Amino acid sequence: MRVLVTGGAGYIGSHTLLELMAQGHVVCVLDNYANATPTVLNRVRALSNGQITDFVGDVRDAKKLDEVMAAFAPEAVIHFAGLKAVGESAQKPLYYYDVNITGTLTLLHAMERAGCKRIIFSSSATVYGEPQYLPYDEAHPTNPMSVYGRTKLMAEQILTDWVAAHADRTAVLLRYFNPVGAHPSADLGEDPRDIPNNLMPFIAQVAIGKRDVLEVFGDDYDTPDGTGLRDYIHVVDLARAHVAALGYAAVHNGARPFNIGTGQNYSVRDMVAAFEIASGRNIPTKQSPRRAGDVAAMQADASRANAELGWHATHGLDDMAASTWAWQSKNRNGYDTD
Ligand code: NAD
Ligand code: UD1
Repeated sequence: MRVLVTGGAGYIGSHTLLELMAQGHVVCVLDNYANATPTVLNRVRALSNGQITDFVGDVRDAKKLDEVMAAFAPEAVIHFAGLKAVGESAQKPLYYYDVNITGTLTLLHAMERAGCKRIIFSSSATVYGEPQYLPYDEAHPTNPMSVYGRTKLMAEQILTDWVAAHADRTAVLLRYFNPVGAHPSADLGEDPRDIPNNLMPFIAQVAIGKRDVLEVFGDDYDTPDGTGLRDYIHVVDLARAHVAALGYAAVHNGARPFNIGTGQNYSVRDMVAAFEIASGRNIPTKQSPRRAGDVAAMQADASRANAELGWHATHGLDDMAASTWAWQSKNRNGYDTD
């Protein structure tokens, strides 16, 4: 298929480009480099030996989108472009609504004008909010606890209403759990611009010596070791879920959410231990209070994605830690290493 990938230079988008190209899809990227660098696409080109048409532009720019649609004529869009920092979303709510909601609406209008009828959307497990039961299945009530989470749920609702109004449209809503890890080449990975918000990149920066100590946020949760439990998913498995979702979208209409996780969860201490083994380095930790907005535990019931997308996670915790370390140690300063 001809696939437009918005935000394709980002962490998940770049890994997905490689998986799409490996399966014979033809790709085009639209990215404004708000949180990425053009180096990424050069690395993807080198790894794939393939063609990537790319446009520099904002997903809120209708004229630019018309230009992309006219030049590339996509049969489907994978929509990664967006903002994702929970803390920042509370400080800059209008910015988050603008990029994540206006961006999605502007894209849908452009797809309508161009006759493009399929979209795969980057949603998040954060749409569920405080668990009423675990593992979360897709029928779990949604009650996001942050502006960021609300933008994801609202975008899901917009996509669902769009699809409901037309018999031949498809929206696949992928609710990612906690993406971690890096490409086996160690040439692609997560490259946070500021202090990492998320656990795995923070641990990696402690291991490489860029930060002194990992703060463990809370040790009094109702979990086996008192620290938070999460369902970490390797980014290559996540990338492959998008290829599976495209196959699904080729033969199904309607809007459907899918949990994308492994169905297992690990504590903060499990992650530190795995990283110490992978890196052979000690990770100093310091106990800190709970972080506002954190839940004790999250875990996916991914059986719908397993059954209907034919997708399964195959990478375990060791691989998540080892690939993150390989990426971090080969690229001490991320993509600025080039
Ligand atoms: P990322 O920041 O690495 O990638 C997003 C990409 O979109 C970047 O390349 C950025 O430059 C681009 N972008 C941002 N605003 C844009 C705009 N207005 N126009 C065009 N391009 C724009 O993030 P990621 O981790 O790869 O996440 C991709 C998507 O998945 C996001 O929508 C995010 O909310 C969602 N998601 C991420 C996680 C996670 O933990 N990484 C979890 C759940 C959902
Ligand atoms: C966070 C976001 C969530 C988003 C997800 C993936 C919040 C409140 N939630 O989720 O909306 O979908 O990232 O991008 O920000 N931890 C530490 N020390 C650290 C960092 C994290 O102990 O320096 C702990 C956390 O308390 C948590 C676990 O590690 O128990 C994972 O944290 P993180 O990687 O930030 O992911 P989430 O909290 O699941």
